[in-house]
Amino acid sequence: MRPTLRIEPLDETHDRSRFNCADDAINAYLRSGLDRDVGRYGCVAYMATLGDRMVVGFDTLSNAVVEKHRLARATRDRVPGYQSVPATLLGRMGIDRSIAGRGYGTDLVVDAAHRALVAARSTSGSSLLVVDAKSDALIGFYVRLGFTSLPDQPRRLVYPMHKIEQLFSRQA
Ligand SMILES: CC(C)(COP(=O)(O)OP(=O)(O)OC[C@H]1O[C@@H](n2cnc3c(N)ncnc32)[C@H](O)[C@@H]1OP(=O)(O)O)[C@@H](O)C(=O)NCCC(=O)NCCS
Repeated sequence: MRPTLRIEPLDETHDRSRFNCADDAINAYLRSGLDRDVGRYGCVAYMATLGDRMVVGFDTLSNAVVEKHRLARATRDRVPGYQSVPATLLGRMGIDRSIAGRGYGTDLVVDAAHRALVAARSTSGSSLLVVDAKSDALIGFYVRLGFTSLPDQPRRLVYPMHKIEQLFSRQA
């Protein structure tokens, strides 16, 4: 059976030195840019490990806004009346090449969606989970998970929070 990722907030015991996903900019960010952003409250970072403290995956979440007029009509009808819709941005994320293609990237996104839902319910309202696909090829990865592209920005994808809630209430 496939070992389960342990996903928890970044702390000083995590070893990020050997992390190597398919995107060099994301590898560099994990080692040198992330701490600055976390230190400035720009994002919250979660690390994924498998049995030891070596980081094999990570993601970041931040507050964001999406302009309402950019949303598809069906999504627009389910968000508040503001022009700027409160949202949660799934920012940088990656899975180490050594474990890629085994569903761990999916696990990480599902965990991040759950964290976003918990925060949206209890801490800071958010009607959408948003992600910016780094390439056209990656759009399909997020669509398979249930995200939909904005009509005029295909690389920006959203997952309405009420649908995330339904997802987890079905699993409960
Ligand atoms: C994208 C990423 C997180 C996926 O992690 P993963 O553990 O391999 O994902 P899963 O096993 O859950 O899903 C695999 C599916 O993702 C898709 N996928 C993964 N990487 C992809 C890429 N670079 N381009 C297009 N599709 C990709 C494929 O459809 C793959 O399906 P397949 O196994 O049938 O080919 C990982 O490849 C990664 O870290 N990439 C580098 C960093 C990055 O691009 N981050 C996302 C920025 S938007």
